[in-house]
Amino acid sequence: MTAREIRTKFLEYFEKNGHTVVPSSSLLPDDPSVLLTTAGMQQFKSYYTRSADPMRDFKSLSTASAQKSFRTSDIDEVGDDTHLTFFEMLGNFSFGGYFKKEAITFAHEFITKELGLDISYVTIFEGSRTVPKDEESREIWKSLGVSDIREEGMDDVFWGPTGSSGPCGPTTELYCKNATGEDVEIWNIVFNEFFYPGSREELLGGSTSKSLEPLEYPGVDTGMGLERLAMVSQQTKNIFEIDSFQTLFNLLPDELDVRTKRIISDHLRGGVFLLADGVRPSNKEAGYILRRLLRRALAYEEINNLEASLFESMLLQVINTEGEFYTELKSNKNEIINEYWSERERFTKTLKRGLGELNKLESIDAVGAFRLYESFGLPFEIIKEIGGEGAHGLSRELFDKEFEKHQKKSRAGAEKKFGGHGLILNTGELKAKDTEELKKVTRLHSATHLMQAALRKVLGDSVEQRGSDITVERTRFDLSFDRKITKEELRRVEDIVNDVVERDLTVTEEELSFEEAIRRGALHFFKEKYPEHVRVYSFMDKDGKPFSMELCGGPHVTHTQEIGKFRIIKEEASSAGVRRVRGTVEP
Ligand code: SER
Repeated sequence: MTAREIRTKFLEYFEKNGHTVVPSSSLLPDDPSVLLTTAGMQQFKSYYTRSADPMRDFKSLSTASAQKSFRTSDIDEVGDDTHLTFFEMLGNFSFGGYFKKEAITFAHEFITKELGLDISYVTIFEGSRTVPKDEESREIWKSLGVSDIREEGMDDVFWGPTGSSGPCGPTTELYCKNATGEDVEIWNIVFNEFFYPGSREELLGGSTSKSLEPLEYPGVDTGMGLERLAMVSQQTKNIFEIDSFQTLFNLLPDELDVRTKRIISDHLRGGVFLLADGVRPSNKEAGYILRRLLRRALAYEEINNLEASLFESMLLQVINTEGEFYTELKSNKNEIINEYWSERERFTKTLKRGLGELNKLESIDAVGAFRLYESFGLPFEIIKEIGGEGAHGLSRELFDKEFEKHQKKSRAGAEKKFGGHGLILNTGELKAKDTEELKKVTRLHSATHLMQAALRKVLGDSVEQRGSDITVERTRFDLSFDRKITKEELRRVEDIVNDVVERDLTVTEEELSFEEAIRRGALHFFKEKYPEHVRVYSFMDKDGKPFSMELCGGPHVTHTQEIGKFRIIKEEASSAGVRRVRGTVEP
């Protein structure tokens, strides 16, 4: 069975057993306390605490999903037999519906009957000072004929909370053998019995100011890595021999060493999924993770003299095969490919020089490594690897410390310059930290007004602004609209905006009474409270009528040609009845 067939079988099995199949959530979570989505249960956190109602949203107390997941903590391990950054997590969930008996019985039946695999052994929670031993799970496994039941502790078989607080509880894990006879953890079944009002670190550290509270509706959260499951089901020796990675390996030259093949394949695959969810390469947060993935792969391309078109073929391979299920890959295909090439262009300019510098050095410490990163964009992993013996004392930890030191320094520098604020502009909607950024966000801001006017022309006047956030990289605009905006409509919006840009309309600013502004038809954002006198920005058409007129605090360009070419890069659902559109401007 291919990985795709296993995924289908899993979802069908749980659907037939009363679960509502829910699509994967984005890799960028709503929960601001986590950088990327690392587990299937994340999108369901509020159902365990019942701050959201599962019956209302799923018409069932149980759901199942295949969730896009990304674990940054594993980046440095990729290349060995088992680690991946991006992976798919299959999971079934119960929010106060079934509990231990059904959850373990489902898992047992799916593995042994549906997939026909042998269970090697299972683990249960051995108990701790605060939580009793999980005897109930032991009895259930025993009744199903599983005899090898091992006890483990808090570090291994106790889940959560994720982020700064959340549901948590003991887990039971299921192990199978791969082709080398090694035991591989396949399935983690979590019994969310408690809520902990702090982080996992605090819980494990034994913080005394906070304690576990029983959840009113005990729940089940299970997670099974699809790639690992495919490894034991296809009986391969490691995770990279499963069908979905082999199709990528087949595109790489045979003579490339296997570790390099693994890293390139993992990183490009992860890159595709991050790009499809709207992440763009940058120097912070998720953008920095994406940049590391792409640049490390690109460094291998350079070192091994690989064909420039090769990685694009690999990206397309991922888009075409995984895009059948994760349709956002297909609908964002052009953006993914374009963003990849832009990052490649930015990086390859300095990469050769950076590698030259690195080769000249006899030994390299964290300060030197950071200098290479800062001046040439060389990724830590490449410095460590190419540096060989000379980079012996260099560790990720020391490098990260240097990185943080530098970030603090540049923040402090910016604060001094801008009177302690760090930003020269922060209206809530617009943010810029220096004059360069200010120019860019001003152009994006004007483009946002034009986009709103164009959206209303294309989708109708009932469209209203629901939010807006502009950074130097992009504008993000939320609008009330209750279905997906089609490609064709988005293109028309782009065309209208670019036409206005071309025609170089003049932007005027005037002070009016609130009544007068509304009477003239100026748009305003419903959430805000306005003073008696307001500022109105208009983009005046040649016939003297405004193309766009909005209440706004500025700043804006004076003529629309300053904006440059406008492009919509993403359109997605933001919440019920609200769509989110992201756009950029180019020189
Ligand atoms: N949340 C658990 C995990 O990620 C089970 O889904 O392993």
